[in-house]
Amino acid sequence: MRAGRASRTAEHNAFFRALESALPESRRLFKDPLARAFLTWPFAVGAWFAVIPGLREVLPRLIDNRWPGVRSSVVARTRLIDDAIAASLEERTEQLVILGAGFDSRAYRLPGLCDITVFEVDHPDTQTSKRRALGRVLSVLPRDVRFVGIDFNQRELESVMPAAGYRESARTFILWEGVTKYLTDAAVDTTLRWCARASPGSVLLFTYVHRDVLTKPGAFIGTERLFASLAKVGEQLTFGIEPSELPEFLAKRGLSLESDVGAAEYRERYFKDAAASLATRTERWRYAASF
Ligand SMILES: C[S@@+](CC[C@H](N)C(=O)[O-])C[C@H]1O[C@@H](n2cnc3c(N)ncnc32)[C@H](O)[C@@H]1O
Repeated sequence: MRAGRASRTAEHNAFFRALESALPESRRLFKDPLARAFLTWPFAVGAWFAVIPGLREVLPRLIDNRWPGVRSSVVARTRLIDDAIAASLEERTEQLVILGAGFDSRAYRLPGLCDITVFEVDHPDTQTSKRRALGRVLSVLPRDVRFVGIDFNQRELESVMPAAGYRESARTFILWEGVTKYLTDAAVDTTLRWCARASPGSVLLFTYVHRDVLTKPGAFIGTERLFASLAKVGEQLTFGIEPSELPEFLAKRGLSLESDVGAAEYRERYFKDAAASLATRTERWRYAASF
């Protein structure tokens, strides 16, 4: 991330969610009414054009051609995670921790979350920008949203979460979406160990990239261009996991793997027939849920 500036990749995700939200109700996977509020130039203008019929189909297509798989993965997993959180609320989850929240607006748009405590944990530079945008569009913030600023590469969650009111004894859903790939090995390690201390019945849902994306980028379509775009915004990929090693990797940190779903699979789950054209893209993003 560039010092003093909000994460640009967090803004990319908000842009993808704004584009999806501009589609007619029968064709979109979710509606994120706040996504547009977080956008700056040129994404704000793109999202503005996306409300125009005709143009709203063109923009996603252009993005998919230039950065294969990226937008569709973010959109499908947004819905997947919305569904996972809704299911966990049925299981009496008492608190939601969103690590590296970026411009995630779930605390403000998902029914049921206003009844539990939500911790939005993020780098202070991104969080400052988010809070400013929220102040512009929401007259009041939900009572039980707590903002926690931290640099995962510099500090441990243990040093900030108890003071924010996090209860280790409460059943917790921890979401860590789109973040591990930007961190050091040590930061991922200490954060996972902190997650493993959550009370029984708690869930961690996190995304990671296949380690080969970092070590053999040539094997993945479009990775060169993606890396160049990430370098421009100062958010290079630094961490990946070999999927076959995931169960052991998690076990060493006190977690057991519940499921590990690749992007091709969850895109197909949500885009159905339309996934056929998207599925020709390389599989790059995965997520794992761990108890
Ligand atoms: C790609 S965005 C994902 C945002 C959001 N979770 C989503 O899925 O839309 C990456 C997020 O990780 C955060 N991040 C990156 N490096 C970080 C660090 N060292 N410490 C804390 N947060 C970090 C950024 O501020 C940003 O919000």
